[in-house]
Amino acid sequence: MTSHRMIFALAAATLALGGCSKEPAAEDVPMTVHEAMTQHIDVIADEVWAVGNAAMASDALIDPKLMDDAKWAKLADAATRLQNAATEMSMLKKLVVNRPGVTISDENIEGGTTSEQVQKNLDADPDGFRGMAGALAGHMGDIAAAAKAHDAQRAGALVGQIDGVCENCHLEFWYPQQKDLVKQIMAEGDEAAKK
Ligand code: HEC
Repeated sequence: MTSHRMIFALAAATLALGGCSKEPAAEDVPMTVHEAMTQHIDVIADEVWAVGNAAMASDALIDPKLMDDAKWAKLADAATRLQNAATEMSMLKKLVVNRPGVTISDENIEGGTTSEQVQKNLDADPDGFRGMAGALAGHMGDIAAAAKAHDAQRAGALVGQIDGVCENCHLEFWYPQQKDLVKQIMAEGDEAAKK
């Protein structure tokens, strides 16, 4: 009896595994990760950076004198749209990197990450991905709030941190093989900034 149960349990586990590793069909998903990046996240992030960077003071913070009501409203609006896009990404039920025949950036160059590799990374930790998408949404919510309050210091600091929020996820799911290298470069950057 016991051994039967064990076999049943094993079979169930194998079935479950088979179910998991089955490629989710791209046509079933409303949005692929590649579409989220290229059509929403990257495009709107550029709008946030455009307003923020135009008002950057020499110490990399937003200079309130370079802002006006219209610019604050524009920053709040772009941050809110990015927040919504990131929230949408955090709620994707199936994480599919892209549709058949579509290639991701650098896929075809030597050393570039392939779609299959990214798909494997997504399948290995889908909730980790959703959590990082949620973190981006939270960061954008904070920027929108700071912009609505015309808080130049806080908004400037948060805009300066966007890169890191994007990079955290790219390092886990896009090019984890470069983690050590990127950390080293970032550490050198911090050292240089201290000098
Ligand atoms: C929750 C995870 C996550 C976050 C957060 C994230 N990305 Fe991505 N991004 C990915 C993954 C995975 C890929 C690889 C798939 C691809 O290239 O489409 C990618 C790819 C990209 C690409 C290359 C798209 C291409 O042509 O293949 C760009 C550009 C990009 N991200 C920009 C950004 C920017 C800007 C931010 C921050 C505002 C950001 N990403 C935040 C996961 C994320």
